[in-house]
Formats: sequence, structure tokens, C-alpha cells
Amino acid sequence: MKVIKTIAEARALRRQLTGSLGFVPTMGYLHEGHLTLVRHSRAENRHTAVSIFVNPTQFSPKEDYQSYPRDEARDLAMLEAERTDFVFMPSEEEIYPRAFSTWVEVTRITDRLEGAVRPGHFRGVATVVNKLFNIIEPTRAYFGQKDAQQVTVIQRMAADLNMNLQVVVAPTVREPDGLAMSSRNVYLTPAGRKAAPVLFRSLQLAREMWAKGEKDAGRLRQAVTAHIEAEPLARLDYVSVADTETLEELSVIDRPALVSLAVKLGKPRLMDNILLG
Ligand code: PAJ
Repeated sequence: MKVIKTIAEARALRRQLTGSLGFVPTMGYLHEGHLTLVRHSRAENRHTAVSIFVNPTQFSPKEDYQSYPRDEARDLAMLEAERTDFVFMPSEEEIYPRAFSTWVEVTRITDRLEGAVRPGHFRGVATVVNKLFNIIEPTRAYFGQKDAQQVTVIQRMAADLNMNLQVVVAPTVREPDGLAMSSRNVYLTPAGRKAAPVLFRSLQLAREMWAKGEKDAGRLRQAVTAHIEAEPLARLDYVSVADTETLEELSVIDRPALVSLAVKLGKPRLMDNILLG
């Protein structure tokens, strides 16, 4: 496994590769969710590259950029065990030199959900992912359904800007009790961790109602809200039942829908989602 720190090295390596290259962008502190993406990439491509870069531009000043969990040695050992070919770990200056002034802004879908709560977040994500695509030049890039809106934004960007690669989406990997894996789960207190499966349970409730024929999106939102509010530690940020492509809220579920929610459990804020149809 080669660990690369500079863009020049990445380009030199890329020139030597023949055959397909799968790419998994990450912010590190890896878990099974990330490793599943690596396994998908390995199964579908001749080579696999992973990036580890905690991207400062997708954190707002109030967020946890400085304290975002990091463990380089552990991440590299995990990627080595998955037989990753390349790890790109640039410094902040390598990605954002002093004169940096260009941004990728995906409009409309970024005004909603996470975008409404975290202004500028998706501008940072789209910009860094575009840069990483330009540096790595992957055949396929792998993203988790866990971050559903991020998937929509990256797919929109890749289509709108005619990027010459395939965006592949892999299902959310969960703990045995249903909690979606996340690097930020380490912030949960023991009581918060115990309460955390309430997110997925509320989504399963929505799925059951929908499977039994409920098409009224408002009733689904109400049921999820009531379920979350019954958990004393949880504070619901939003629950959404939206069109999977435009992320516009639905009143009637007459097409594929994304049910997503964000919940504060003490300090950490957890997100989860499911697709209907
Ligand atoms: P990060 O949060 O490290 O996630 C990297 C990738 O792993 C994302 O595509 C995310 O959706 C996926 N992932 C995280 N938890 C998952 C789970 N439980 N199951 C399946 N996939 C999961 O997302 C980012 O980093 C950044 O925004 C990035 C795209 C790297 C740009 O900075």
C-alpha cells in the first residue's frame, strides 16, 4: 500500500496505472461503513485509492473541525488489511493553498435538509470532492447512502459538470442494534449510545406504515416525530419525506421517497435515512 501526501506524487502514480481505478473519499477515523465502500471498489476495479482528508471548508466555524476524531495509524492499518493500493493523505496547504478562490456550488438541493442547517457545508463538500476527482481521476467513486443528501449533491455535480466517472452508492452499514455507523458516534455518552437506535426504529416505523399503504407523507412525519419525542434524551432537528432527486418535501408519496432525519442526542447530532420505493 502506497501512502501519498502530495498532488504531484498522486499524478505520477496515476500515470502509471492501467485498468480501472476505484476511489473512496473519506475524512478518516474509519469504520465498517468506510471499509464496505473499499470492498465494493476492490470488487469492481483493478486498483483502489482511498483519500483521508478532514476537509476544513465543509465545517462551519461553530462545528467540530479541530476536534473531529483522527487516528492516522489505525486508519492506515485498516486500509492495509483491506488491501487498498493507494492512500492519499494531503495536508491542508496542499489542498487549499493561500490564494485558493474557486468554489463549486450545487444550487437548490443544497438549500434543504442538512444544507439549511449547515450553510456552506455542501459547497465545501462539492469543492473538495471535485478537486479529489481531478487529482485521482477515478473510473468509479464510492459514496455511502448514510449521507443521502451528499450522494444527491455529488450525483448532481457529476452530471451537471459532465464528469467522466461513475458515482456508485453503497447501503448504510449499521451496528447490530440498528445505529448507523459514523465517526461521530464516539462522541455519544453511554446513555446517548443506548438511546441512539431510536433513529432507525423510527425510520422502520415509517417504512412499515408505507408498506401497509400509507401514502400521506405528513402522517409519516408525524409518526416519526412522535417516536423520537418519546425518547427523553433526543431532540429532533428535522424529519423529512422528500423526492429522492429534487429533495423537495412531498405531501403524497407517489414516487421514490427519501425519509431522513437529524436528531441531537446530547452534544452529538446523528443523521439517518431510508429510501421508500
Ligand atoms: P466521511 O464522513 O468520512 O465518509 C466517507 C464516506 O463513507 C461517505 O461516502 C459516507 O457516506 C460513507 N459512510 C459513512 N458512514 C457510513 C455507513 N454507516 N455506511 C455506509 N457508508 C458510510 O462523507 C465524508 O467523509 C466527506 O463529506 C467527504 C465525501 C470525504 C468529503 O470531504
